[in-house]
Amino acid sequence: MPGIVVLRWGHRLQRDLRLTTHVALTARALGASGLMLTDIEDKRIKETVEKVVKNWGGPFFFEMGIPWKKAVKDWKAKGGIVVHLTAYGENIETSDVLQRIKASGKDILVIVGSQKVPREFFSEAVSDFNVAIGNQPHSECASLAVFLDRFFEGRELTKCFENAEVRIIPQKRGKKIVRDC
Ligand SMILES: C[S@@+](CC[C@H](N)C(=O)[O-])C[C@H]1O[C@@H](n2cnc3c(N)ncnc32)[C@H](O)[C@@H]1O
Repeated sequence: MPGIVVLRWGHRLQRDLRLTTHVALTARALGASGLMLTDIEDKRIKETVEKVVKNWGGPFFFEMGIPWKKAVKDWKAKGGIVVHLTAYGENIETSDVLQRIKASGKDILVIVGSQKVPREFFSEAVSDFNVAIGNQPHSECASLAVFLDRFFEGRELTKCFENAEVRIIPQKRGKKIVRDC
């Protein structure tokens, strides 16, 4: 199964702390291998993500500060493809875009924005596919979650995380965890 890494673009230090953290936690929990926060550094998010990985397992990497153009260039140079999630793209339900992405068999860099993204993101030079999770504007976190779930067809929901210090035992009611698993 190809690997997926998320590129988060447009993080604003003052207002996006919680949302970017949630994008990273969603990426990890739903099967991506890592997240690159491009063009900016936010150590608070790195700390939170590393803490979650330590407690709940991995592998999952968090990198920050790389210019987005370099991240995309390096990714493509290694043979990966780029999927830009945007309300303006090919609808994941009504088109065959997901089939074409899967048919490539290549590792995928999924770009999600925050503020309005540079026009170049839509170009062939950057994105191999522009994918809409429905053609209504909503949220980077929601669009990423739906994309990952459709890509992995639900298998990510039973993923086994390595080196976890704590694990949830699903219950009808209440909370049960085991430590040192
Ligand atoms: C809250 S939206 C902001 C969009 C921004 N106002 C603009 O006009 O580009 C932030 C990000 O969520 C993602 N997003 C929002 N709605 C989406 C949709 N329907 N399909 C796919 N991605 C979506 C995109 O990655 C987008 O860059």
